[in-house]
Amino acid sequence: MNTDLVIYNIGQLVTGRELEIENNSCMENIEIIENGYLVVRDGKIVTVGSGEIPSKYVNLTTKLIDCEGRVVTPGLIDSHTHLVHGGSREHEFSKKIQGVPYLEILKSGGGILSTVKSTKEATEDELLKKAKKSLGVMLSLGVTTVESKSGYGLDLETELKQLRVNERLNHEQEVEIISTFMAAHATPPEYNGDSEKFIDDVIKMLPIIKENKLAKFCDIFCEEGVFSKAQSKKLLLEGKKYGLKPRIHADEIENTEGAQLAVEIGAYSADHLMAISNEGIEVLKNSKTIANLLPGTSFNLGKEYAPARKMIDSGVQVALSTDYNPGSCPSENLQLVMQIAASKLRMRPLEIFKAVTINAAKALDKEKEIGSLEEGKNADIVIFDAENIDYILYHFGINHTKKVFKNGCLVFKK
Ligand code: NIG
Ligand code: FE
Repeated sequence: MNTDLVIYNIGQLVTGRELEIENNSCMENIEIIENGYLVVRDGKIVTVGSGEIPSKYVNLTTKLIDCEGRVVTPGLIDSHTHLVHGGSREHEFSKKIQGVPYLEILKSGGGILSTVKSTKEATEDELLKKAKKSLGVMLSLGVTTVESKSGYGLDLETELKQLRVNERLNHEQEVEIISTFMAAHATPPEYNGDSEKFIDDVIKMLPIIKENKLAKFCDIFCEEGVFSKAQSKKLLLEGKKYGLKPRIHADEIENTEGAQLAVEIGAYSADHLMAISNEGIEVLKNSKTIANLLPGTSFNLGKEYAPARKMIDSGVQVALSTDYNPGSCPSENLQLVMQIAASKLRMRPLEIFKAVTINAAKALDKEKEIGSLEEGKNADIVIFDAENIDYILYHFGINHTKKVFKNGCLVFKK
């Protein structure tokens, strides 16, 4: 058989394939192959295995990579970011350190509204250049797919500008972008607090987003003082009519039963969940909705962490993402988020790798193509300069990536 690439002598090959294992937590059930190999052809995974590579997979044109006992995993997936935005907000940082609440900064015209101003002022090319730079950082950290939300425009023109940048990014660099329409991020000041009127205006944008095929998902900031549960339901159900799949910023600061709403409307993810209730956990565990946790945000805001252990022990499926944005988490570093998940969320190594691979793929409705190294799936692969996955989480604050492949092509090398 003609093959393009064989990676062998892999110390731990985390395929991300889900296994039926008893006595493990519901999230430690992914496959790890010791002394593994991996075969790629035409950008797809042909097979994985352990020990000697069967000779039929090696021919004259096959590129062979000796991993020398290192770890190999599926390309990491960052399933919640606010990648495309203008400016930065370091001017609010010292206020935050002194304890001024996030929502208070927003109410006084700062926070999200400050980034809305910078994003309106930026040209499409400027936004593109800035986002590309961030994606370069993400790729170097092993991230091969990124979800990217609009929501710093709040008017049709600027929302479209952000979404067009997402589209262009898919042609101009290696990381795949999944686009989310999130005009319902904050009510613009000119509405004088009339969030209901604003939601109605966001609903009017939906046909245009659909017509231009600019987003796969619709998201909203469901939060006390931002958008209510009823408003969130109204928008996300309208979005569904236009083919936009729902996801929700839920129970981040106050509990507003966002997790329950996520399940009720069939959202692919409920994100943040620092303030989730026990009832919310009960509802999530019996659903297909992924709990998308963003501990970099808690770290940066100095807030509570989401009760990940309780969720996982109850049977909830969790993903982990950066939430990369200029306010609550100005960091592109998914490896750091994974390390925080270990130390602060008490998540175990296998759970963490499941959270940034197959579960993140499910949160993006992409699990048929990415998230695990299984026959027929995209050959998005990371080689880490580590002998085991525990080491990647334990030795924190550095980048462990050695090589990254996207669709079978080498796209980053340290
Ligand atoms: O996910 N919570 C709402 N939105 C973002 C923050 C955006 C910002 O502060 O600019 C978040 O944390
Ligand atoms: Fe967010």
